[in-house]
Amino acid sequence: MKKNFLFVLLALSMSFKSFADEGMWLPQLLGKQVYADMVKKGLKMTAEQLYSVNKNSLKDAIIIFGGGCTGEIVSPEGLIFTNHHCGYGAIAGASTMDHNYLRDGFYAKNKAEEIKTNLSVQFLLKIEDVTKEVLAGLGGLSGTERVSKQAELLDAINARYSDASKSIQARVSPVFKGNQFLVFVYEIYKDIRLVGTPPESVGKFGGDSDNWEWPRHTGDFSVFRVYANKQNKPATYDPSNVPMKPKWFLPISLKGVKEGDFAMIWGYPGGTNRYESSYGIKLATEVNNPTLVELRDVRLKYMFEQMKKDPAVKLKLSSSYAGIANYWKFFDGETKQLLKYDVFGQKAAAEEKFQAWAKGKPEYQNIFSDWKAAYKDWTPYAKSRVYFNEGIMGSSLISFAASLAQLQRSLKSGASKDEISKIVKDIDQRRKGFLEGEDKPSDQNILAALTKMFYENVDKSQLPGAFYEDVQNKYGSLNTDEPYKKYAADVFKNTMVFDDAKWNDFIANPTLAALEADAAFKHADAFITNYVTHISPKFQKFNTLNNELGRLYLKGVMAMNPAKAAMMYPDATFTMRVSYGAVGAYKPRDAVSYDYVTTSKGILEKYKPGDYEYDLPAKQIELLKKKDFGQYADPVRKDLVVGFITSNDITGGNSGSPVINGKGELLGLAFDGNYEALSHKLAFDKDLNRTINVDIRYVLWCIDKLGGAKNIINELKLMR
Ligand code: ARG
Repeated sequence: MKKNFLFVLLALSMSFKSFADEGMWLPQLLGKQVYADMVKKGLKMTAEQLYSVNKNSLKDAIIIFGGGCTGEIVSPEGLIFTNHHCGYGAIAGASTMDHNYLRDGFYAKNKAEEIKTNLSVQFLLKIEDVTKEVLAGLGGLSGTERVSKQAELLDAINARYSDASKSIQARVSPVFKGNQFLVFVYEIYKDIRLVGTPPESVGKFGGDSDNWEWPRHTGDFSVFRVYANKQNKPATYDPSNVPMKPKWFLPISLKGVKEGDFAMIWGYPGGTNRYESSYGIKLATEVNNPTLVELRDVRLKYMFEQMKKDPAVKLKLSSSYAGIANYWKFFDGETKQLLKYDVFGQKAAAEEKFQAWAKGKPEYQNIFSDWKAAYKDWTPYAKSRVYFNEGIMGSSLISFAASLAQLQRSLKSGASKDEISKIVKDIDQRRKGFLEGEDKPSDQNILAALTKMFYENVDKSQLPGAFYEDVQNKYGSLNTDEPYKKYAADVFKNTMVFDDAKWNDFIANPTLAALEADAAFKHADAFITNYVTHISPKFQKFNTLNNELGRLYLKGVMAMNPAKAAMMYPDATFTMRVSYGAVGAYKPRDAVSYDYVTTSKGILEKYKPGDYEYDLPAKQIELLKKKDFGQYADPVRKDLVVGFITSNDITGGNSGSPVINGKGELLGLAFDGNYEALSHKLAFDKDLNRTINVDIRYVLWCIDKLGGAKNIINELKLMR
C-alpha cells in the first residue's frame, strides 16, 4: 500500500488539477492574455492562423450546421463531419421502410450517390463591433421603448451588411446581455448532401439511458458535403453543382489523446445565462423545469408506446422523440444539479456583495429590489406559460391548428383575396408536412392526457373556463380520464385537418365561420385566446424588466471590478466561440473515479442483442471481438478508443464541434455534456464540468472497417 502512495498522489494531482477552463471566447477578441494562456497550455498556431478576416484561417472550417448544430470541413472537397444527432432529421428524411438508412446506415460509394437534403450551412465571413452605433441610437431609453428601438437599429444594421443576391446574411448579436453588440456576417450554402451515416444503433448507441452521461460509447457522427455552383458560390440544389472548395479544412490526427493534452473546441454554443439572478434559479428549480419535465414525460410515454409497436411509426416519430427526450433529461438533470450544488445560495451570496457595492449608486442600487418585485408579480403565472408552450402545443395536431390563427386574424381584419390565398397556399403546404410526420394514435392520447393535466394543475383562475364547461357539459365530470378521451377522439374524428374532402372545400372557400367551427382549431383557439389575454401581457412585462435588470446587473458587475471585466467572456448566443481546456479524468462522486477514455471493451460490455438502446450490427461485434482495429488502434490502450472527455466549456449548439489539438488537427467530435455538470448553463463547475467527445479514430473505424467506405477515408488528410 505504502509503496503506491506517491504514485496515487501523482496520479491524483494530474487528474484533478483545476484546469479552470471556463469560457466561451469570441475568436476575434481572444486578446493577448487568453491567447498567451492557450499557448502556455499547448497551442502551436498563431492568432492569425486561428482567426483572420483577410487571410484563410481555421475559423473558415467551422460552420453552422442546419438550425442548431456545428459542423467542420474536413477535406478539400467540402466534406463535413458533424454529429449523428445533428444529421438525424436529414437521415430520417432520406429513409423509407425499404431504404431505412436511419436503421441500417448508409455510405455513398461515389458523389453521384450522395443524397439531397433540406439542410443549409453557414460560413462566418467576419465579425464587427457595432456597439457605438447601437448605444448612440438607444440614448437613455429603457423598457419597451428600448426594446423596439433596439430591434429597429439591429434590423437596419443587418440590412446594411446583408446581400440576399449573394446569399450573405448578417445578424447582430447582443452580447454581455445587450451591453455590447457584434454583427456576424455569414455566407449561406443551401445544397448540402448526405454522404454517410452509421446505423442508428451505433450513432445513438446507449440511447436516452446513456444520453448526457459518461462513460459513453456512442458513435455520434454523420458525414455530409457542401455543394456550390461552378464559381464556388452558394446555389440552391442542382444536379450540376460541384463540391465546394473550402478556404480551410481540418487535417485529422491518428495519434490519439492522453491525460492533460491541450484541446480546443470551436463552434456555436447556443445559450448560457451565467449571470442569472438567484430569483431565476429558484423559478427554474421550483416551477419551470419540473413543469416541463412532467409534461414531456407524458408525451414521451405515448409516443414510445406506438414506436415500439411499429417500425414505420418509429421512423416517423424518431426525430421529434429524440429532441423531446434530450431536453426532458437535460432539465431534469439541471434541476438536480442546481439543488445539489446550492447554486441559488452561491448566486445570492454574490448578489449580496454586489448590493453592498451598489449602495448609493443610483444606476445600480435598486436592481435587486426591482428584480424581487418583478419575480413576485410573474411567478403565479409561470406554470401557465409552460403548460401553454409544452402542454397545449405538445399535441402536434393542436400545434398545427394553432398555426391557422394567422388565417383567422386575416379573415377577421378583412384582408384582400390575394393575401388570403397566399396564406392558404402556405398552410396547405404545411399541412402536407404535418400529415407526413403525424401519428394519430399517440397524438390523440397526448391531447386527452394534456387537456386533463392542464385542468388539474393550472390555477383555476387561469383556465379557459368556457372551454372546460363545454367539455364537462358534453362529456361529463372533468375529474376522470374518460371524458377527455372521448373529447380527444371527437376532435380527431371531426377536424377537417385529417379529411382531404373537407379540407379542400375549406381552402377553396376559407371562411371565418368554418375555421372557428373546426374541432382542432376550436381547441387551439380557446387556449391561445386565454393565453394572449391573461398570461402573455404579464410575461411581456416581466421579460422586458428581467432583461433590463439583467443588463444593468452585468454592467454593474463589470464596473465593480474592471480588471476582471477585461477578462470576461460573454454568454453563449449561438455565435462562433472557442473554448480551450485539456483531456482529463474526474471523480463524479465519493470513491468513484472515471477514466478519460472509453474503449471497444465497454461497447461489448454494454451490448444487448435485440435491445432498443444497446443492440449493435453483428458485423461490429465480430470485428471488435477479433480486435480488427487496423490503423485506428490506440498504441497505449491496445484497444480501439471510442470516446474521451475534456474540460472544455461548451453547451447545446456545440454538438458536432471539432475537438482540435495544438497543431490544428482534428481529435474528435464534441457531442455531449456530463450529467454531474448539467447546471452548466447557469453556473460553470470547475471540477466536474466535462465535454464528451467521440474519438476521431472510432469515427474513421466505423466509416472504413464497418462501413467499407474507403472513398471517404481517401479524401481526408491523415496525420500520423
Ligand atoms: N445530449 C446531446 C446533446 O444535446 C444529444 C444526444 C441525442 N441523443 C439522444 N439519445 N437523445 O447534444
